[in-house]
Amino acid sequence: MSSIKHVAIIMDGNGRWAQERSRPRFWGHVRGSFVVSDIVEEADELGLDALTLFAFSTENWSRPFEEVNVLFKLLRKFILRERQRVLENNIRFKVIGDVSGLPKETKKLISELEYESANNDGLKLSFAFGYGGRKEIVDAVNYFISQNPGKEISEDDLEKRLLTNDVGDVDLLIRTGGNHRISNFLLWQMAYAEISFTETMWPDLSIDEFRKIVLKSGQVERRFGTVESEISNVRGAQLKAREHLKLFQNNIQ
Ligand code: FPP
Repeated sequence: MSSIKHVAIIMDGNGRWAQERSRPRFWGHVRGSFVVSDIVEEADELGLDALTLFAFSTENWSRPFEEVNVLFKLLRKFILRERQRVLENNIRFKVIGDVSGLPKETKKLISELEYESANNDGLKLSFAFGYGGRKEIVDAVNYFISQNPGKEISEDDLEKRLLTNDVGDVDLLIRTGGNHRISNFLLWQMAYAEISFTETMWPDLSIDEFRKIVLKSGQVERRFGTVESEISNVRGAQLKAREHLKLFQNNIQ
């Protein structure tokens, strides 16, 4: 069985893809939004548990108004176009991040589809929109402090308060567009993720390439810092490490 259950994607390269074709940057986002539909369908086919797509970062607010506006419109169009398919395929839809700056009608569409699909137990599809990884962690810690004054926060406490608390750690990050960085995306959740960078610009990513990346990454043995192949998750590795540490400490005394 593949160890890849949660895939996160930084969908980069739309602007360059368009510019290379002497088109305005927004054209790349438009083409890219159709690729989103294909990849969601393929993620479902592959039986992934979760797919988290980086659609708009906190830093993207600094882009020209027209470009930001196109991204908002594409999210709205995606929901209108895919709503039926999401529901028919038992997909759970969610937007994580700060959507307060989105048009009212789009916010309404988001909440409606989130509500309608909340009990679906198929693919968990999340769009990170107005999202920043550092902000997510700071918000979670501050919330914990406000609820538990004076108490020390644990990893479990933090994870429960992250926006991804229903999907957990990322197993595989894919970044298209040729750059090798993680750009403030799911910083906590990627601690043990496989990372795959492809030169392919997002609008050119085919279902076939996506499937190959997922299947190839699933063959890599992930040991989470241990040397034992039977350890299949971070928690298992941490428990083992704690056990060993105790043994060492007892032997030293
Ligand atoms: C990065 O490319 C991409 C984004 C900032 C937005 C990603 C959005 C989409 C793929 C379409 C949105 C679709 C939906 C359904 C919300 P870039 O513009 O930074 O490309 P560049 O690195 O070539 O400049």
